[in-house]
Amino acid sequence: MAVPNPQAQIHIRTYANTCPPRHENARAVAVTVGSLTVTPVLQSGGSSFGAEVAGIDWAKPIPEDQVKQLITLQDRYAVLIFRGTGLDNARHIAFSQQLGEKLEINPFFYGRENDRLGEPLLFDVGNIELDSSLVKPDSRRWHHSLGNALWHTDSSYHQQRSKYSILLSHGNPVYGGSWTHFADTRRAYADLPAEKKAELEDLIVEHDLWHSRKLASPLIYGNPLPHELAAKPPAFHRLVQVGPDGRKTLYLAAHAKRIVGWSLEDSQTLIWQLIEHCTREEYVFSMEWLGAGDMVWWDNRQCMHRANPYTEQMTARDVRRSTIIDDGREAFGVKV
Ligand SMILES: [Fe+2]
Repeated sequence: MAVPNPQAQIHIRTYANTCPPRHENARAVAVTVGSLTVTPVLQSGGSSFGAEVAGIDWAKPIPEDQVKQLITLQDRYAVLIFRGTGLDNARHIAFSQQLGEKLEINPFFYGRENDRLGEPLLFDVGNIELDSSLVKPDSRRWHHSLGNALWHTDSSYHQQRSKYSILLSHGNPVYGGSWTHFADTRRAYADLPAEKKAELEDLIVEHDLWHSRKLASPLIYGNPLPHELAAKPPAFHRLVQVGPDGRKTLYLAAHAKRIVGWSLEDSQTLIWQLIEHCTREEYVFSMEWLGAGDMVWWDNRQCMHRANPYTEQMTARDVRRSTIIDDGREAFGVKV
C-alpha cells in the first residue's frame, strides 16, 4: 500500500487580484421597501443575491422597526451594501449590537501592541500598520492576510460561530484594487443534483483557521506559533444547513479542513470541489469600495466571501470589521 505523502495533501490556493468592470449592474431595477430604496445586485435563477440599500439616516441611532426591516432584507439578499454612511467606530459597534447580543472580540493575532484601532470589538482588516505605513511584504501579518483572499465565511472555526460581519471603510480606496467578492451558497446548493445533495446531507466538517492560513501561506503558517494555536482550536459544523431565509445552503469555507470520518485528502477533494461549484460565475458578484463610509453587511450562514490579496502595488486601505455572534439554531455547531 502506498504511504500517503503529507505534502501531497496540501494544495496551495491563490486567487488573482480581480477588479471587474464598473457599472456591471447598470440594468438593476430599484424597488421601494417602506422608506428604503433597494437595488438588487444579482438576480437570476429565481434567486436574489446582494442588494444596495439607500434611505437610512445613519446620523441617528437606527430605530428598532427599521432594524427589523433590514434583517428581513438581509435574510433575503444575504449581502447588503450601504454607501457613505459616515459611521465612526462607536456607531459602527452600536449598530452591530442592535443585530445580536454579542460581538466577537479581536484576538489580536499580530500582538495587541501592534493593533491600530485599540478597539477589541473591531478587527483591523485593512493594510496599514501603526506608523501608517503599508503592511510589509513577507511580514507575518502579510502572510496571515493571504488566507482572507481564499473563499471563506468569517469565524466558521469558532464552535459558537458568528452570523453577521459588517465591514466599514474609513479610507479612500483607490480605483483599481478595492473589491470584496461574494458567492451565493444557497443557489449553489439548490443547483446540485439530487444524488449529490443526498450524499452531503449529514456530513460534519472540521473548520480550522490554521488550515486556511496554511493553504495560503504554507511557508509561514505550516507551523503556527503556540499562542496562535492555543487561541484558536478547530470547530465542527454541519455542511448542509437551513439558512435564515428558509432555503438550504452549504456552510463552507477555506477553513474547512476535514469531513468527520474521512481522510484529509478525500475531505479536501470534496471541500474544494464544492467551493469551486459555489463560486462559479453565476453565483458571484463583486462589490467595489467607492469611498469612506461605504459599508457591507453579510450573513456568513448563507454566503461566502473573499478579499483581494495584498499586492506590492496596493494603496492604503482602512477597513474595519465587526462580527456578530450567532444566536440561531445552528449557532453552536456539532459536538464531536
Ligand atoms: Fe472574511
